[in-house]
Parts: sequence; C-alpha cells; structure tokens
Amino acid sequence: MERYLNYIEGQWVPGSGGQWFQSLNPATGEVLGEVAQATPEDVNRAVRAARRALDSWRLVPAPRRGEILFRAGEILLRRKEELARLMVQEMGKVLAESRGDVQEAIDMTFYMAGEGRRLCGETVPSELRDKFAMCVREPVGVVACITPWNFPLAIPSWKLMPALIAGNTVVFKPASDTPILAWHLVKILEEAGVPPGVVNLVFGPGDPVGRALLEHPGVDLLSFTGSTAVGREVGMSAARALKRLHLELGGKNAIIVLSDANLDLALDGIVWSAFGTTGQRCTACSRVIVEEKVAEEVTGRLVERARRLRLGNGLDPQVEMGPLINAAAREKVHRYVGIGREEGARLLCGGDFARGGDLDRGFFYLPTVFDQVTPEMRIAQEEIFGPVVAVIRVRDLEEAIEVGNGTAYGLSSSIYTRDLEKAFRAMREIRSGLVYVNAGTIGAEVHLPFGGFGVSGSGHREAGRAALEVYTEWKTIYVDFSGRLQRAQIDI
Ligand code: UN1
Repeated sequence: MERYLNYIEGQWVPGSGGQWFQSLNPATGEVLGEVAQATPEDVNRAVRAARRALDSWRLVPAPRRGEILFRAGEILLRRKEELARLMVQEMGKVLAESRGDVQEAIDMTFYMAGEGRRLCGETVPSELRDKFAMCVREPVGVVACITPWNFPLAIPSWKLMPALIAGNTVVFKPASDTPILAWHLVKILEEAGVPPGVVNLVFGPGDPVGRALLEHPGVDLLSFTGSTAVGREVGMSAARALKRLHLELGGKNAIIVLSDANLDLALDGIVWSAFGTTGQRCTACSRVIVEEKVAEEVTGRLVERARRLRLGNGLDPQVEMGPLINAAAREKVHRYVGIGREEGARLLCGGDFARGGDLDRGFFYLPTVFDQVTPEMRIAQEEIFGPVVAVIRVRDLEEAIEVGNGTAYGLSSSIYTRDLEKAFRAMREIRSGLVYVNAGTIGAEVHLPFGGFGVSGSGHREAGRAALEVYTEWKTIYVDFSGRLQRAQIDI
C-alpha cells in the first residue's frame, strides 16, 4: 500500500501522532493509499517553517519565482494524462473533466508565472514639488490554503500559485477526500525548485488540523474554498485575529431560458452545468428558470437527457457522470430530494441511489429533475451539491431575474436568449460574480476574476489579476527630495 506523507520544511514526514487515514475511490470503494494525518503540533511546525522561509522567499526576485512556477507548469503538462487518470480514481469525475481540472492547474501555473514580470504597482504625481509617490506590492506573509475535493488540482493552484508568485509562503491543507492529488502537486513544486519551508503540506480533518491552522497566530491570510457553513467559521476565526480573509463558498446558480432562446443550445448548457462533475461544482446549475411558454418542452427534453446519461467509473470513455464523493455526500443529496418531495415539488426523474452491477460499489446517484418548484422552497434556496436540478416556471424576464436574484448566494448565472436587449438587461440586473450569455454556469477561465456576491464568498476574487489583491499588501512610499519640510495639505 502506497503511503503519503506530510511535507514540512522540505522534509516528507509522518504525522507525529502516528495516525493514518485512507483515500478511497468513490466509484469502486478501492483503497488508493494511506495518508499520514498531521496533528496540531505538526501544523505548528509547518507554520513556523513557513515563517522562517518567508524572509528569503520574499526577496527572491518575482521573475525568478516565476521561473520556478514555469517549471512546475511544464511538469504538470508532461504528467497531465497520468494525473487526470489518478483524479478519476480519487475524486470520481470522468476522464475528460479530470483532464480539464489538470489543464486548469496548468493554465493557472503558467498564468501566475508570467505575473512574476508584471507585479505592477502604481506611481502617481505627488501634490507637492520635489516629492515622489508610488505604491508597491508586498507579500502578505504566511498563507493558509484550505481546499475542497471537487477540483483537487485546479483549486489548490488558484491559491498556491498567486500566493507564491507574490512572495508569500504557504501551509496547504487539502480536503481529506483527495489527499493524493495534493501530494503530487506539492511534489511537483518541490521538483520545480520551490525551496524548503516555502510550501508545507499537512493532511487531516478540519477539526483539529484545519482549525489549528486557522487559529495559528503565525498565519496572516486564510484562503478557504468550501461550504458557506464552514466559511462562516473561517471568517469568524479571521475576524477574531484580524487576519486577512479570502472565502470562495457556495452557489445556487440559475440558468434562465427565455422563450426566444435556441433551445438545443440551452439544453446542452443545462445538462452540462447541472450534471457535469455530478453537480459537485460551486458553479453548478441547480435551478432552471424557464419562461412558461417553453417550460413543457424544456422540462420534457431535460428529463429525457437526464435519463439517458450513462453513469459509472469515469475511466470508461462511455461514462458521462461519475459518483458523488462519499457516503455522507450521497446521504445529503438524498435528504434534499426528500425535502423537495415534502415541499410539494414534482419529481420527474431520478431521486434515488443509482443501483445495479458495478454501480453498487460506488456512491452513485441518479440525475434528478424537480418540476413545479417555487422560488422559496428549500430545494430552490439551499446548495445541494449533487445532480439535482429544480425547474421554476416564470412569466417573463423580469420575474426570471427576480427569482434568479432571490437567494442569499450570487456566484454564477446564465441566460439563454437571442434578444440583445434582454441579454443586456440581464447582464446588468443579475446579481452574481459570473454571468454567462448563451452558455451554462460553469467553465470559468483562469485569467478572469472568479467569485461571488452575497454568501458565495467574502467579496474578493480568485484568479485573474484580481487574485493579487488577495495575496499582496499595498505599500505606499513617499520620497521627498526637496531638502526641506513640506507639509501635505498645508504647503500647497
Ligand atoms: C468550483 O466549483 O469550485 O467554472 C470551481 C468552473 C470551473 C471552476 C469551478 N472552472 O466551473
């Protein structure tokens, strides 16, 4: 059995408590490896190592830091297929999507590597003579990166790469469902030349390992992607210690379909966004808001498509939808289906575990469509994180937007229409961090800002140059070369 160790100050080490946990294949139940569980004391060592490494890493010129990231990107690219296959096994998403996840990590690594030569500050004229004013970016310090299992390489790279290019050091705690992929990412960074202590890896559950990391006084920035409930805890921990905070949380993303839309295109977008990654994306479509006139047709065709989806082990090229990540996730999805029924929504298809043959070995759930959902129902308000979609019928665009905006979340939204005026109205009125026109709710690209309104996050943006706002401090510098006392606002 392969064993995976924590990485602290350049050493691969078992947990000081001597405990191990297993990583499982959610499609087959097969054990993929044993993982060393860290203790709060190991976390403490990792944070101290990151603090020590900060002083030399922040002084490495950013273009040189970028060269290390370029090397990491090349290794990821060379190993793309192997990592994608491993991802199918550890996370369960199908091979094409796993390749996409690795590609997203490659894209982000190259993109941030390039930022090493573009960590721009600002210079502006001073209001006084013979005085120079500028702002430069500096690293925030030690960054805690706590990442989910649904994008086992992409999301860690969204955090680690901008943190590193900006000169921060990192303690990385990945989700316990996908530790092996995290281990490979750190191994690749080591091979690319990231010095000891700059990236540290600790494995283990949110409590006590994640908590020890969040609450450690030596951590300056908490960057977390996961559920809104846990995000609140992370936020409170940051507030108590006045640490910088970056949260990327849930969504209740809607696709609006207007009656003039190209319905073939809309159906493709709905199926891809609702059932891709088995609905386990924070950007997944979980509501379809459809104009009454085309509601029967859209719903009917959606159900037909959902029923036809082939479930199974994602390594099989015929398979279109993999399992849920674990037993608890499947129970949660099933609980929500029960809630939907009790609320009076009409279950059109799915609504149960997928059974039979090899499916019995994994955490499979049938693609599920509810019709006659009303906007205030819990299945229309709460994040389910599974292959469950709620169809809500509306009169017109105005009502569609009102319903679309009517949740506490605001991550991703989409509208299908061929009417330019309506599209632009929607682009202005929709309250979410991502808006797609004639495309589904998933598929964000790494060089544009990513994040949400409301309880979808802390208001910051990941990815794009916006990420640098999270991972850098502004330092404003005034240089007076007049040789005399000049008083701002007074000697004008
Ligand atoms: C997530 O689900 O947490 O836009 C991230 C997308 C992907 C990223 C999703 N590029 O769906």
